[in-house]
Amino acid sequence: MHHSARRLLLPLVAVAVASLLAATATAAYHGGVTVTHETCSTTKWNYGSPYGNNVGELLSTLSGAGSAAPVDNWWFRTATVGSVSGLAMCFADSDATWCRKCLTFLISKYLPYKCDHSRNASVVTSGGCVVRYADAPFFGSASGVDSDELVVVSSTHPTYDAAAMREARRALLSQLAETAGEEALRFATGSQGYMVRHGGSQVMYGMAQCTRDLPASECTACLLDLLAVMYKDVSVTNNTEASVMGFSCYLTYQIDDPIYIDRMAPPLSPAPAPLPVPAVTTPTGSSSAAPPPVAKMTTVLIAALAAVTLLVSAIAV
Ligand SMILES: *[C@@H]1O[C@H](CO)[C@@H](O)[C@H](O)[C@H]1NC(C)=O
Ligand SMILES: *[C@@H]1O[C@H](CO)[C@@H](O)[C@H](O)[C@H]1NC(C)=O
Repeated sequence: MHHSARRLLLPLVAVAVASLLAATATAAYHGGVTVTHETCSTTKWNYGSPYGNNVGELLSTLSGAGSAAPVDNWWFRTATVGSVSGLAMCFADSDATWCRKCLTFLISKYLPYKCDHSRNASVVTSGGCVVRYADAPFFGSASGVDSDELVVVSSTHPTYDAAAMREARRALLSQLAETAGEEALRFATGSQGYMVRHGGSQVMYGMAQCTRDLPASECTACLLDLLAVMYKDVSVTNNTEASVMGFSCYLTYQIDDPIYIDRMAPPLSPAPAPLPVPAVTTPTGSSSAAPPPVAKMTTVLIAALAAVTLLVSAIAV
């Protein structure tokens, strides 16, 4: 009995591992959804308890199943089923297809696998979406930021004038943190032109976003925490492009390449200002004439890293 069972099991495990390998390799190759931060409670719900059904129903609602509203880059939902509360949000600089792909992956593949039967779970991906649920309501207060756990995604493009770039970044990002909190969509994007030491100018583009359950002050505080995480990372100091995402807010910047926000007019190039006065816009425009976002090398790199992480944990299981 034991013997034959083992003989049956081994090939099954081999097939499972092989298909996992194939799945993660493909995801990395296509710049697939990349989890940058997650927490799953070690406290589990019991098999057959109503909690599990509630989680299932909640996640289905959060994923937009049966929703009349489009599941796109402006997607945000909170829901409560029984004692389970949760939220889901897509990042504004993602697009509709990517948003749906991200939510579907987290809800139907990642959470049931990595956070199997966890009473609480939070997952955020680079350039995509965030999903959270818990056994008690958490709406209205930002999840604590543990700076050592958050991944800062950055690329090492050189800048002509690091000091001027840092100055423009400081002015723009702190302004965006402030503005995002005041907006109904808890979102702000903007740009900051700056003069380069040996002549010419460059433009810093930025975007800030919070989950829409947060009050203004909580949103701004969350973004300022992310800013601190970003500045703490020395690899970001002189980098012309970086992003950091927590469970409750998201912050990104890049130079000389406007951040594409689907269903929003592209920003106008501001004149370089000797005294930083960032041009900050909020989503009231409606144009989709701008080109689609281009996949970035950093994303691919991070994706490869995540694939390895997933693999390692799969093997550990
Ligand atoms: C789950 O999260 C809620 C809300 O933050 C908290 O009150 C509760 O203690 C957490 N439960 C577990 C099992 O971690
Ligand atoms: C950033 O650039 C400045 C020049 O403006 C240089 O002195 C400094 O060492 C650089 N810092 C890092 C962390 O690369």
